[in-house]
Amino acid sequence: MTKLWWADETGDPGQEAVQEAAGLLRKGELVAFPTETVYGLGADATCTEAVAGIYRAKGRPSDNPLIVHISDLSMLDGLALQVDPVSRRLAEAFWPGPLTLVLPVCPGAVSPLVTAGLDTVAVRMPDHPVALALIAAAGCPVAAPSANRSGRPSPTLAEHVREDLEGRIAGILDGGATGVGLESTVVEAGGSDGRVHVLRPGGVTPAQLAAAAGCAVDVAGEVRGGVDPVAADAAARAAELDFRPRSPGMKYTHYAPKGQLTIVQGRSPEAVAARIVRELEQARAAGERTGVLAPEEHAHYYRGCADEVAVCGTLQDPGSTAQELFAALRRFDEAGTTVMLAEAFPEEGIGLAVMNRLRKAAGHRVLEAE
Ligand code: TXA
Ligand code: MG
Repeated sequence: MTKLWWADETGDPGQEAVQEAAGLLRKGELVAFPTETVYGLGADATCTEAVAGIYRAKGRPSDNPLIVHISDLSMLDGLALQVDPVSRRLAEAFWPGPLTLVLPVCPGAVSPLVTAGLDTVAVRMPDHPVALALIAAAGCPVAAPSANRSGRPSPTLAEHVREDLEGRIAGILDGGATGVGLESTVVEAGGSDGRVHVLRPGGVTPAQLAAAAGCAVDVAGEVRGGVDPVAADAAARAAELDFRPRSPGMKYTHYAPKGQLTIVQGRSPEAVAARIVRELEQARAAGERTGVLAPEEHAHYYRGCADEVAVCGTLQDPGSTAQELFAALRRFDEAGTTVMLAEAFPEEGIGLAVMNRLRKAAGHRVLEAE
């Protein structure tokens, strides 16, 4: 039911596959495709029936709007009512690339399901030859969330898409492993405060944004983990208030493995490791199947104490942790672990995005090592 176009060893599924996939998109079907961040689940953004299919296939709440992907700057004019000078500078600096701009939407440019009723639209130009060729061949803006079932880690391999969506979508274009490994940075600029607001951290860091934008960059508290958006939403509902995070996706549980994941942070690697080992021993004594997520340098602390040690990059190269995080989280479900502990990673640069995803995966459970 789901057509699979495998890539060769260079990550290229071939021209014919791209043309065939584009034909399916034009017919209102769903096709998963590689980008430089994670795999996306694409549909013609102008076709409400096709976009409704995305929400159905993913099991995604319909008030969580989608990102529209373009292959050419000229496509932006048909989507955004206007592009303020700061957003324009950011597009020039980072497109194609892992940056999504929230802009005022041209009425009628995309299906109202794409924007979930907002008067803005999120747009990005992905930096991947297969994605760009697919969008150009389809000849329409392509709405695409990450190609996972809602709540699961985003896919960084075609195989992950297959696990989650085979039989539910028309096709999967393989392009090998994605590069960044985490979703794009979502920003909103052009407001009266003259700042760039980071709604979701990602492949482009706040420092890179500030350098290109030439103005202040504001990172929302809910992004840094100061606020638990799920709890804030529940509290607001209890108080009969309307909680509206600036990026609606922030309030949903994400990336969560089936077992219970907890982050451990502390002053030194030794203190963190000692606390994790203690937690593992207790969990094992209680009959749990245990897992640890840690960088390569610290894996030796846990071998022999945990049933699954998911190594997640190296501390030398924070980008490698970003690349491997989602696959590492999927490994816990494969291993059937029920209690998992993760080391906290340094929060600088891309580490901000890594910790944002890890906190969500852990349902904001964080332990402090003494
Ligand atoms: O890297 C990525 O961005 C990937 C690849 C496939 O391009 N896509 C992706 O899409 O992560 P998705 O749907 O999983 O995440 C979209 C995010 C959500 O947090 C959503 O709330 C936010 O973008 N978003 C979409 N439209 C918005 C809008 N008009 N205003 C504010 N936030 C918006
Ligand atoms: Mg997603």
